[in-house]
Amino acid sequence: MSSSMNQFFKDRSLFITGTTGFLGKVLLEKLLSTCPDVRAVYILVRTKRGKDVAQRLEEIFDSKAFDRIKVAHPALIKKVIALNGDITLPLFGLNSTDIELLAENVSIVFNSAANVRFEDPIKFAITTNLLSVRHLIQICEKMIKLEAVVHVSTAYSNCNRSSIDEIIYKPHLDPSKVIEIFNNLNDEIANKICQTILGDFPNTYTFTKCLAEYLFMEEGGNLPRAIVRPGAITCAWTEPFPGWIDSRSAWGGLGIAIGLGATRNICCYSEIDIPFVPVDFCVNMFITSARQTALNKCGALKVYHCASGGASKISLGSFIKLWVDHSSKYPLNNMARIPSVRCNGSYFANSTFSLWDYYTFLCPMDYLLQITGNKPLLRRIFRLFNLNLKTSQFGLKREWQFNNENAMQLWNSLSIEEKKMYNFDLEQIDWSRHVENYVYGLKVYQLQEHVATLSSARKRYKKLLWIGRLMNIFKWTILWIFLLKMSEQYFTIENNIYFISYVAMFLVLRLFGFAI
Ligand SMILES: NC(=O)c1ccc[n+]([C@@H]2O[C@H](COP(=O)([O-])OP(=O)(O)OC[C@H]3O[C@@H](n4cnc5c(N)ncnc54)[C@H](OP(=O)(O)O)[C@@H]3O)[C@@H](O)[C@H]2O)c1
Repeated sequence: MSSSMNQFFKDRSLFITGTTGFLGKVLLEKLLSTCPDVRAVYILVRTKRGKDVAQRLEEIFDSKAFDRIKVAHPALIKKVIALNGDITLPLFGLNSTDIELLAENVSIVFNSAANVRFEDPIKFAITTNLLSVRHLIQICEKMIKLEAVVHVSTAYSNCNRSSIDEIIYKPHLDPSKVIEIFNNLNDEIANKICQTILGDFPNTYTFTKCLAEYLFMEEGGNLPRAIVRPGAITCAWTEPFPGWIDSRSAWGGLGIAIGLGATRNICCYSEIDIPFVPVDFCVNMFITSARQTALNKCGALKVYHCASGGASKISLGSFIKLWVDHSSKYPLNNMARIPSVRCNGSYFANSTFSLWDYYTFLCPMDYLLQITGNKPLLRRIFRLFNLNLKTSQFGLKREWQFNNENAMQLWNSLSIEEKKMYNFDLEQIDWSRHVENYVYGLKVYQLQEHVATLSSARKRYKKLLWIGRLMNIFKWTILWIFLLKMSEQYFTIENNIYFISYVAMFLVLRLFGFAI
């Protein structure tokens, strides 16, 4: 039986950017598997690291994400045509034949390509995340059959506000002027004035994503458009299969560092809610919003929030706790110690605990690894992770309210069958199950650790659990002996006060979770 969505996409041609990335792959897979009657899917791919477009196309389909397509409908892969281009170039640097192909055939466009690193140099971020949207509009304006352009933004594009509606906010600077000014600046000066230009935006990513939305609205004229703003994207809830992920950005990197035991301190407020959303929910919203935009001929630009909140929310502390708990079920092969995380509200406390951990555990462990002929990776992972966390700091200590009337309307417009097939109802998420799948997905899909290694990893986990317990007993015994000796040696009233203050100090440190 052909689904209603397949009926809609039947004989339509699509153009997608960013398909070599995390979201793009899931989007392409979902479109092919649920809308097999689509005429053609043109994807924009650039040459990268010595690989040409054909090789990169092959790499996309080598991904496990496409397993069900390769088994059930291998012929569909032929409908995907890769075009050589780069979003930073006018008309994406496409040749005239490809432009003509798109202009004559494409009716639906998904723009997912962007640079997701938070603190890229300002000029680079402007070219990739802002100027690219102007290039997108120029191409879309040529498409004679165009029915919908879905631009992927981020829920953090207005992170300088607390309550965010599904509207486009006017930024403090005009995007066109920003493009013009930075076009004439060299990198050094651009970086120098960056902080002033950002205003109350925490980084170049959120700043350029915000400006891009405004430019999309201002310069998009009468194009039928929608913007989807995903929150913090996690692994797949169910599709292509539960737990699928191939991205180390943000939460993926955090999971790996925790899972390896390379980090035990995070500077964050555990009680804040993070707008998590599984990658397949985002993709389902892209597809349904594209159809909605095409059917709704009035031309008004709609914004959709795709982020947990309200009844579907989960706090950062609960999420991390679930992560640590489920790590015992799916431990990483190279785990150095049992995962355990302390959320430190203060930057000072976090730096102190992290430094202590760095010198009393990571350095000796790396040394041990080195002399036993292994790769000393722990300090590197710790440093990488801390850098990553530093750049995402703005999202770990603050929460936002994402109002989602448009998303709700879109959801309510779906039939029961479509709600099952294109689910983005975050209230249905069982977070414990999702995090369990996430831990599994990161191990098996992202780090490509074979399932067969699971039993040895679990044995190692148990061993490390006991080593950790014994080390704790050892540390406490040494401390106790030390304190006893001190009290014996200096058993005077005056020194008793010193003794009590030592005990109090250690207890306070322990209370704050200091690893003594
Ligand atoms: N990941 C998240 O948590 C998150 C959250 C909210 C919103 N988003 C948004 O979702 C979208 C996709 O994110 P993602 O996580 O899938 O990112 P990703 O895995 O890093 O993928 C980015 C994609 O953009 C492409 N791209 C970057 N620069 C390009 C260029 N100059 N020319 C052509 N293609 C280029 C990349 O191609 P190459 O392979 O050639 O580099 C890749 O396909 C972005 O718009 C992002 O802002 C992501």
